[in-house]
Amino acid sequence: MGIANITRYTLLYTNKRIGMHTLYIGVLVGSLRRDSYSRKLANNLAALIPEHVQLNFIDLSELPMYNQDFDDDGTPPNSYTSFRSSLKRCDAVLFVTPEYNRSVPAVLKNAIDIGSRPYGKNIWDGKPGAIISVSPGHLSAFGANHHLRQSMVFLNILPLQQPEAYIGNIKKLLDENGKINNEETILFLKSFVAAFLKWIEQVRK
Ligand code: FNR
Repeated sequence: MGIANITRYTLLYTNKRIGMHTLYIGVLVGSLRRDSYSRKLANNLAALIPEHVQLNFIDLSELPMYNQDFDDDGTPPNSYTSFRSSLKRCDAVLFVTPEYNRSVPAVLKNAIDIGSRPYGKNIWDGKPGAIISVSPGHLSAFGANHHLRQSMVFLNILPLQQPEAYIGNIKKLLDENGKINNEETILFLKSFVAAFLKWIEQVRK
């Protein structure tokens, strides 16, 4: 049993004893870049969540472009199948994404499409969701944030509305180890996480 598994086991056991359900949040980062600011920002969230919450970072790097033939022929790639099952196990989803050309990066849109099919088996259906958009620029990836919301409507992902999380000028907010370097951003992200957890609770009632 690896350290991560021991921690998880201890967590589950502790939560079981105090009657608290572990909440699994799938985290989808819209960048494959080695030094992605979005991923660094997302990594910081692990320190801001309560003990009964687990962030499952879902890998998008192995997903081939969606081709409906795979599903129509009943031969989806293994990566599709494991991606869909990982998502299915999540109680909620959090998108942390940059903006590409004023929209959602293809890697994230592809993952969204894969999760939405085959027809009638939309894995996103009814899940509470939230978005943090990230950019080195001033506009804070507003375009990606809102294009994502447009897909969420059709997928029936139930989005947290407030607070909205637009993180601009990201380079200035991270230190050389990728940690957030200022209290204001940490406080904002804490309030965002608290609102999201409350929202998840409301949706799941
Ligand atoms: C970008 N970038 C960018 N930034 C932005 O704020 N709005 C935009 O529309 C775009 N468009 C865009 C297109 C493409 C193809 C690339 C590669 C980049 C810049 C982008 O925000 C920057 O590269 C970030 O560092 C990408 O996020 P990660 O990889 O650091 O998470």
